[in-house]
Amino acid sequence: MCGIVGYIGGQPAAPFLVEGLTRLEYRGYDSAGIAVLSRDAKAKEKTTAVRTVGRVRELEAALPKRLAGRVGIGHTRWATHGPAAERNAHPHRSADGRISVVHNGIIDNAASLRAALEDAGVEFASDTDTEVVAHLVARSEADSLEAAVLEALGRVSGTYALAVMDERHPDRIVVARSGSPLIIGVGDKEMFIASDAAALVRHTDRAVHLDDGELATVTATGFHTFDQYANATERTPVQLAVAVEDLELSGHEHYMSKEMREQPEAAETVLRGRLDERFATARLDGLMLDPRELRSFRRVKILGCGSAYYVGQMGAQMIEDLARIPADAEAASEFRYRQPIIETDTLYVVVSQSGETADTAFAVNEIRRKGGRVVGLVNVVGSTIAREVDGGIYLHAGPEIAVASTKALTNMGLAFGLLALHLGRLRDLSHADGLRILRGLERIPGQIREVFESEERIREVAGRIAGAQSAFYIGRVRGFPVAREGAQKFKEISYVHAEAYQTSELKHGPLALITPEMPTIAVIPDDELAERNIAAAEQVLARKGPLVAVSHPGVDLARLGVETITVPKNEPELDPILLTIPTQLLAYHAAVALGHDVDKPRNLAKSVTVE
Ligand code: G6P
Repeated sequence: MCGIVGYIGGQPAAPFLVEGLTRLEYRGYDSAGIAVLSRDAKAKEKTTAVRTVGRVRELEAALPKRLAGRVGIGHTRWATHGPAAERNAHPHRSADGRISVVHNGIIDNAASLRAALEDAGVEFASDTDTEVVAHLVARSEADSLEAAVLEALGRVSGTYALAVMDERHPDRIVVARSGSPLIIGVGDKEMFIASDAAALVRHTDRAVHLDDGELATVTATGFHTFDQYANATERTPVQLAVAVEDLELSGHEHYMSKEMREQPEAAETVLRGRLDERFATARLDGLMLDPRELRSFRRVKILGCGSAYYVGQMGAQMIEDLARIPADAEAASEFRYRQPIIETDTLYVVVSQSGETADTAFAVNEIRRKGGRVVGLVNVVGSTIAREVDGGIYLHAGPEIAVASTKALTNMGLAFGLLALHLGRLRDLSHADGLRILRGLERIPGQIREVFESEERIREVAGRIAGAQSAFYIGRVRGFPVAREGAQKFKEISYVHAEAYQTSELKHGPLALITPEMPTIAVIPDDELAERNIAAAEQVLARKGPLVAVSHPGVDLARLGVETITVPKNEPELDPILLTIPTQLLAYHAAVALGHDVDKPRNLAKSVTVE
């Protein structure tokens, strides 16, 4: 959601800006724009700004043929303050056009600042919160751009990553970060700015991640970082962990299918170095919690949004099963608004692929503010949530571009397996059971590969369900989060309504909806509840409801003539991880059959950085 790019150096800026914005498209946006500084006939610096609603390619088509300036900033916007319209797209500019600003995040006191500026005679050209920054910087009487930006930000409260360009200071771009990521890419006599490493990797592998509250002056030959009091800070560039091929389709039709297929390797990576055979446990030094602290927790509370929340539910069950600590998962988006009681003997676990989901980040703040201990299961290294938690487990799934999360989710499940094993072995889980789980985790990458052997059949099944108006996903206990995640994926990309229900609850209401037009996808693991699940399946079949089972080879569904997709059996506690894979494939192939934009489903963003 929203992306920032910037360039200053010896080359024309526009090609990098456009390419960089294309790289950030996956995050979700509805309009885009760039501003480039170049000299006019009178040798005065002038800004050319172009903004369009729609895709970056439409912006590219609207650019003037000659746009040679070597300093520029660009942005993809997701509408928050004001509709998706050209006037609301960034860059925003001061009334005289001198100052241009791009901004990610939200300025909380924009309304009062706007009112004050309007009283002072400023005319606003947009409905956005960002525009106030352009006016505040332009109206500052400070003698440097840096001082003007500091003065403006002193009046602003909220979250931001910002890049500011000034016709009076064409040798620099000033950037600032507070609660929203900003990266400076270091090139050879050229410098890049981006809110996401994806925009940089084709140009440099050296970068500086600004800290919260930090600003920087970026020139063609270097950068200078400083804090809110204008005191210099120390920053050395680090190697970017992302490679170009991680961000390319590499022959795949969609990022989602590429990322699903990357799951076996991704799963190996999250487990690497973390399995301790000798003590039959998991090595999780990143948690930053010693055994004594970990033993003192009497409860585990897991928080995430969307798919991360559903995997959190799987994780809670794993923790209860293996460590016998009461655990539950809750939507982070609700948690922060219900005056949560924060207990010092509860371990809070936040889960986020992007590490930028605002609702989850706010939950972290709330927990920390009230003195709770919070660890994170996060994929993006150095992201906001990863920086703010007390410790955690990095997911190491590699960059995920498709909005619908697959490989990061699987790695969340595995990370919960590791955490549950670790907590269990600190308590009553026996060495033998610890080893059983450890071996189960080791088998998962190979077993994911096996699931893909059924892809063709899953595709056929998906083709059949795709025509439905609505579908049920049912499961119970360990299978219920699988059903919830399956329904979520199906909704997100096929746009077919899908509802998850506890299998046990079907007869208490929703059975009334079962007709030949209402397909049901039933999660039926080979466990102690299999017979009860089969009985529920029979109730669906008796009402002529089409039924597809996601199950294990040991479950006898053939006698009922049920269409069954099987996954290899693992240990019961870990089975949900593998049972989720066919539901990804079902959603993917249904969306493809319906001709949808699989990687960028309508109305959704990869990371929701606003409330
Ligand atoms: C958005 C996406 C979901 C995702 C959720 C959490 O709503 O559309 O697919 O599960 O954010 O994202 P996170 O990056 O925190 O895991």
